[in-house]
Amino acid sequence: MSANRPAAVVVLAAGEGTRMKSATPKVLHELCGRSLVGHVLAAAGELHAENTVAVVGHAREKVTAHLGEIAPDVRTAVQAEQNGTGHAVRIGLEALGGALDGTVVVVCGDTPLLTGETLRTLAATHTEDGNAVTVLSAEVPDATGYGRIVRDDSGAVTAIVEHKDATDAQRAIREINSGVFAFDGQLLAEALKKVRTDNSQGEEYLTDVLGILREAGHRVGASVAGDHREIAGINNRVQLSEARRILNDRLLTEAMLAGVTVIDPATTWVDVTVTFEQDSVVHPGTQLHGSTHLGEGAEVGPNCRLTDTRVGAGARVDNTVAVGAEVGPGASVGPYAYLRPGTRLGAKGKIGTYVETKNASIGEGTKVPHLSYVGDATIGDYSNIGAASVFVNYDGREKHHTTIGSHCRTGSDNMFVAPVTVGDGAYTAAGSVITKDVPPGSLAVARGQQRNIEGWVARKRPGSAAAKAAEAASRGSAEEG
Ligand code: UD1
Ligand code: MG
Repeated sequence: MSANRPAAVVVLAAGEGTRMKSATPKVLHELCGRSLVGHVLAAAGELHAENTVAVVGHAREKVTAHLGEIAPDVRTAVQAEQNGTGHAVRIGLEALGGALDGTVVVVCGDTPLLTGETLRTLAATHTEDGNAVTVLSAEVPDATGYGRIVRDDSGAVTAIVEHKDATDAQRAIREINSGVFAFDGQLLAEALKKVRTDNSQGEEYLTDVLGILREAGHRVGASVAGDHREIAGINNRVQLSEARRILNDRLLTEAMLAGVTVIDPATTWVDVTVTFEQDSVVHPGTQLHGSTHLGEGAEVGPNCRLTDTRVGAGARVDNTVAVGAEVGPGASVGPYAYLRPGTRLGAKGKIGTYVETKNASIGEGTKVPHLSYVGDATIGDYSNIGAASVFVNYDGREKHHTTIGSHCRTGSDNMFVAPVTVGDGAYTAAGSVITKDVPPGSLAVARGQQRNIEGWVARKRPGSAAAKAAEAASRGSAEEG
């Protein structure tokens, strides 16, 4: 393992990515919770190289800022003008002090499906075969646009020829250059000095290093990727969506093999950072993002979007959007709930239909079943919040907190005007506007008294259907009486 530890990984990320047609630099486009370059760095990270340098150029402020966030240990080197992949690697090496002892691995920033395993195989093949350079190649159904791997009669790799510079016979080759290489650091630095620009694009091709080293009598080899889809570079948004589908399938397959039921992989989308426990179930139309975690036997969906949300063992979440929430074991959420950051629902609690919560701690066994807003609140255990209640947390300037105790029964259509506290075991009457603290065990009634004005309809709406119905009702009760 440590024998194969490269001296450096160079990530090429200076290109513009014109075909994305985007204000966002290509390598910052996202799939399954990471940027393109983030995926590449995650795979490269499995090599545990001593140094990693990313060569940035186009939109370098944005790319550098992003790298600073996701991979602060990665250095950046600026390639002001994109004069080719060879030029880019030269700049990357200079940032690391020039010629390095040991292996230098070069990867492109736009191949998000590349796995750490493939890179490890490449590095191991490179070391074991004693190569000066080993290219990661693949057989592809359509090689158009790629550099072709040229082999001699004995099958030894002799050169890489770019599509634009290739003869018809070479264009018929289906083994292509993935753009990923392992090099001997010293020989790479030397060969890069000899790379010329007399090609159809007038660029310094990294691929020329292979022919240069071969001609100088060094060993040149290829490591053929098992799955050609892994090395696909993303150039436009069609390819981005295809890669997203492949990566998503890969993640779901892994989850299913680990004991997760995914009812419909086609409509289930997950980030690489999502985790599951055994026997969790994901129903169709569900998106799981960020640090979302499903506990053992938890059931989510259909139609949920959960971000950075923990769902406890055996909990049930249905048709819900949740961000930064925690759902306790055996709890129930939805259908049609919106859990915003800071929501914590205790074990066996319930957040029901058309309920929105934010910064709310809702205790064990407590229920908020219908049509309510609970914001900036602490509710104790085994309380029940009546339908259509609002925790009135905002006075137009500041947010205030509401505290409701344990074993409370609050009536339907209550307004809790924060800051306010309802003590343990207290009740509130339906339709109350609670502006004052309610002592434990009390019943709070805070609503207008009802007044019935008898005979009003007969006087004010004579002859109306309502008046006739009322008259019939009073006749009926007179007959009965
Ligand atoms: C390159 C390879 C080709 C291979 C293909 C695989 C060369 C000459 N050709 O072609 O053999 O089949 O990748 O996808 O290497 N970059 C820089 N600075 C530059 C130029 C490129 O950082 O000056 C970066 C790009 O951002 C990209 C990568 O290098 O991440 C590859 O460059 P690109 O222009 O896409 O090369 P291809 O023509 O696709
Ligand atoms: Mg390319």
